Amino acid sequence: ALIERGEYDHFMLKEIHEQSESLARSIMPYINQATQTVSVPEAAETLFADADRAVAIACGTAFYAAFTAKYWFEQIARLAFEPDIASEFRYRRPVLPQKGFSLFVSQSGETADTLAALRYCRENRTPAIAVVNVPESSIAREAASIVPTHAGPEIGVASTKAFTAQLSVLAVLALSAAKARGHLLPGDEMNYVRSLLALPRKVTEALECAGQVREIARHIAGKRDVLFLGRGRYYPLALEGALKLKEVSYIHAEGYAAGELKHGPIALIEKGLPVVVVAPKDELFEKTISNVEEVRARGAEIILISDAAGIKAAGKRADHVILLPDGDDISLPILSAVPLQLLAYYVALTRGTDVDQPRNLAKSVTVE
Ligand code: G6P
Repeated sequence: ALIERGEYDHFMLKEIHEQSESLARSIMPYINQATQTVSVPEAAETLFADADRAVAIACGTAFYAAFTAKYWFEQIARLAFEPDIASEFRYRRPVLPQKGFSLFVSQSGETADTLAALRYCRENRTPAIAVVNVPESSIAREAASIVPTHAGPEIGVASTKAFTAQLSVLAVLALSAAKARGHLLPGDEMNYVRSLLALPRKVTEALECAGQVREIARHIAGKRDVLFLGRGRYYPLALEGALKLKEVSYIHAEGYAAGELKHGPIALIEKGLPVVVVAPKDELFEKTISNVEEVRARGAEIILISDAAGIKAAGKRADHVILLPDGDDISLPILSAVPLQLLAYYVALTRGTDVDQPRNLAKSVTVE
């Protein structure tokens, strides 16, 4: 079927706005509404209980989804979880888990390096779970177990709705692993399920920041560099925010772990450098804010993406704020993606780049 942009100027904007529906479609197959529990394909579930370790392989934005999942699998399921870039993993004869599994994340299911990494795991008898958006794809066909995302066809080269769909499915997998490993109390499972079910509505709320993000984007559009910072589960989101901006606006952007700043990149801070900080209020918030103070003292302009509690606590230490709905350690990283996508989109729009077909990029990299 022909896919139309409809009222939207670009597929990227349309796909950003579709995330309420694409998330609902991706989450629902893995939730039992009557019992408020998660349920994933049995083949995947049986791998979780006895696993000693997992490797998670992907490229680009899908890799950042896998990297975010590390925080959930380790903290909630207590499973060692090692995300890696497919082009690195495949060539170094990696040591695979003895009793564990491999996880492959891909929108297209056709990325050459990711497919090659999957074949390596198969040859070495490590079962593969595939989180893919195209169920007829090569990666889906060759994996032992498929846990599809249902983001729908993604046309914009820069991935948006596929990313949040991947995050939501990975979250369900982490919860299922936590349960299989005896680390999830029934009450906690119910709370997480409620929070997942609320995500579509919360994404709609998160999209309300668009007008404000557009203002900030106009300002950023004239800058040469932008730094993105995050800690813990928001560190991969900072990386994804920087990637999105690079891809569609061609502005140099770097994502950094906030705590690593002092080991190098702080040397780059000069007056007027925009620093986007992804920091909803969590157990690491105060640490991130102390890093914000360090860059602010050197003239950086702080754009804080946070929830109401975080924005209140940051007070005057942020020059611009972007408000996220309330959430938890699973929903807030997913919701954080929305303003990051909008920021990249509106900066690109201001600069007049080809948002849906950025120069030098391909939607699916099927050759090495
Ligand atoms: C290309 C696309 C990216 C995507 C990456 C991985 O580089 O431009 O947007 O994240 O491939 O693609 P996959 O289909 O494996 O998720």
